[in-house]
Amino acid sequence: MRVAIIGQGYVGKALGIAAHSAGHSVVGVEIDESRVAALAGAIGYSVGSDFSSVAGSEVVVVAVPTPLDGNRIPDLSYVESACESVKSYVDVGTLIVNESTSFPGTLRNVIAPILGSDCLYASAPERIDPANEKWGIENTPRLIAGMSSEATSKALEFYRSFCKEVHEVSSPEVAEAAKLFENTFRQVNIALVNEFAQIANVLGISTNETLAAAATKPYGFMPFVPSIGVGGHCIPVDPSYLSYAAELAGVEASFINLANKVNISMPSYIASRIASLLGGSVAGRRIQVAGIAYKADVSDTRESPALALISELRRLGAVVSWHDSVVGAWNGESSKALESVDLGVIATAHSGVDYGAWSDSKVIDVSTAANTGWPKFL
Ligand SMILES: NC(=O)c1ccc[n+]([C@@H]2O[C@H](COP(=O)([O-])OP(=O)(O)OC[C@H]3O[C@@H](n4cnc5c(N)ncnc54)[C@H](O)[C@@H]3O)[C@@H](O)[C@H]2O)c1
Repeated sequence: MRVAIIGQGYVGKALGIAAHSAGHSVVGVEIDESRVAALAGAIGYSVGSDFSSVAGSEVVVVAVPTPLDGNRIPDLSYVESACESVKSYVDVGTLIVNESTSFPGTLRNVIAPILGSDCLYASAPERIDPANEKWGIENTPRLIAGMSSEATSKALEFYRSFCKEVHEVSSPEVAEAAKLFENTFRQVNIALVNEFAQIANVLGISTNETLAAAATKPYGFMPFVPSIGVGGHCIPVDPSYLSYAAELAGVEASFINLANKVNISMPSYIASRIASLLGGSVAGRRIQVAGIAYKADVSDTRESPALALISELRRLGAVVSWHDSVVGAWNGESSKALESVDLGVIATAHSGVDYGAWSDSKVIDVSTAANTGWPKFL
């Protein structure tokens, strides 16, 4: 098939590589010229910023950002703009697939009205988990639903060419909602365990020992790990797409809102616990944070709670440096080698980091890593 993929970020690039390897003729369209330059020659298909390359494609996949705006309201401007840009290059029967995460009704009520009734439409939400070595684009089951049976069959044919397991659902709205619910499930359970860590602390019992004890139950329980909070483009963002849709429909998404509140408050909760640990105040104390990416072994700092912790500690007067072997530079600052400090904080535990330079420092681990060799703080 001739395939055009709009957006060549994390999702669009992974799809491009998979579709190209499956034998499709792929073009990627990307508005960020520096990204186009970085990808040129590095992948097996062509990438450019000219939307006319979409002309003649049988399948056009939209994989652009769906963030929240400053008021935590879904921002669909990237999706709308991508659709406006391809509008003149699609034809009767072109299959438009949306992989970008959004609320139920986005394909039908936002995308289809821009591109018109001559196209076919399907939803195929991406579920990729960065740095997951076991589950990738080929073996993570894919949900598919078209707005017509013709759209569904064409989408099934395309995705079956590189995904081992494809599940058809009855409507794009179900596929869109399933993607949001999966991430909401994680967001709410992470918030619950983060709240439990705060309760266990005041009760004077070990969170980890209690969770390990609960996890001996062979059914009806799934362990989650307390940490500094949630980051990345998905868990802190997607549930708010669901709560937005719920609230528009007149239902308050109280669990989602509460979970957001708990997760967002974790960096300041940890900063206050650090102040107590250091005798009541962090002012003037030298603190080094290891790992500022939102998860281990990725360079993505979007929504990373480690950045909120650094800001909060600085606001309280601490002298904070950071080390991140994967990120290297952020906000005009560079990663510093680990050095002896008043307190070392493992926020995100990238593989292979040698914390030996902290042997004379107090160290706490607020990461989700199973065992960094340092005591769990939460
Ligand atoms: N990263 C993940 O792990 C992940 C997992 C599942 C779903 N998603 C969802 O997939 C979508 C894309 O996420 P991502 O992580 O690839 O984002 P990203 O920011 O890495 O990539 C998006 C790319 O789209 C480009 N872009 C923006 N507007 C464009 C336009 N009008 N035309 C062409 N290109 C445009 C951007 O420059 C960027 O390079 C989002 O909805 C996200 O929620 C992401």
